[in-house]
Amino acid sequence: MSSLTINTLQGCGAEVSGVDLRQVTENEFEQIQQAFSEHGLLIFLGQELSELDHIHFAEKWGKINVNRFFTAHENHPQIAMVTKEPEQDVNIGGGWHTDHSYDFEPALGSILVAKELPATGGDTWFCNMYKAYDGLSDGLKQTLLGLRAVHSARHVFGSAGADYDKATSGRIGNSDAADVLADPVHPVVVKHPLSGKLSLYVNSAFTLRFEGWTAEESAPLLAYLYEQAPREENVTKFKWQPGSVAFWDNRATWHYALNDYQGQRREMHRITIEGCALG
Ligand code: SIN
Repeated sequence: MSSLTINTLQGCGAEVSGVDLRQVTENEFEQIQQAFSEHGLLIFLGQELSELDHIHFAEKWGKINVNRFFTAHENHPQIAMVTKEPEQDVNIGGGWHTDHSYDFEPALGSILVAKELPATGGDTWFCNMYKAYDGLSDGLKQTLLGLRAVHSARHVFGSAGADYDKATSGRIGNSDAADVLADPVHPVVVKHPLSGKLSLYVNSAFTLRFEGWTAEESAPLLAYLYEQAPREENVTKFKWQPGSVAFWDNRATWHYALNDYQGQRREMHRITIEGCALG
C-alpha cells in the first residue's frame, strides 16, 4: 500500500511525499501523473537520485529533449547542466519565463535536481499560468482567446544574443543552432494537452509579439500580462534543499531562478521532456 501524499501549495504546484523516485510503482506513477496534470508543478523532497535514476524517471514521461543551448553533463548528454560558478554574474533562467516556447512543439517540462546549493539564496519561483489566465477579466480573456503570438530563441541564444552568451562565460548559447531557427506561432491561451484547462501562454523571455501586430503594438498588452501573472497568490517561492527535485510543466507554469548568491556555486541537473504542438 503506497503512502504517497499530495499537498497542494498555495500559489503554484503541489508537494508529493511518501515516494522514492528511484522505484516508482505503477500505482504511484498514476497518482503522480494525475497530480502533474492538475498542478503543473510537483516538488519532491529528500530524494537520492543518481544521474541514471534521473534519466530513468524522466524517460517514463516521454522522449528526452537533448538541449541545444546548454552545456551537457560530461557523461550523460540527456542532462543539461544549469550551473552558476562563483565568478559568474549572470545565471540561467534569471527572469520569469517558460522553456522552449520557441519550438513548434514546445517541451512538456523539465525535471530539475539540486546537486550543489549555495548556503543562502538560489531559490526558484514558480507561477501558476492557469490561475494567471483565470484571474483576468472576461473581456480580456475573450480578446486573448482570439490571439496568437510569435516566439523566438534567436535574440537569446543566437548571435543577436551574444552579450548574454558572453555574460555567462560561454556556458549557454549556440549561435549556429539558434540563428537558423524559424519562429513558431502559438495560441496566447492554450488548452492544456493533459488537463484540458486554459493556460496563459506568453512569456517575457521568448514571446516577440502578437501575430499580425507589430512588436510596438504588442508591448503594452504583453507588459500588462507579465505584470498580472506573477501576483503573490499565483506564485510559489521554492527554497531548495539537498535532495529536492522540481518537475514543472512548461505549458502551465513560468519559473524564475533567483540570482542572489553571488560568489557561491550552484549546480542543478535538468532533464527536459519532449512535448507536442499546442492548440
Ligand atoms: C531554468 O531552468 O530556468 C533554471 C531553473 C533554476 O536553476 O532554478
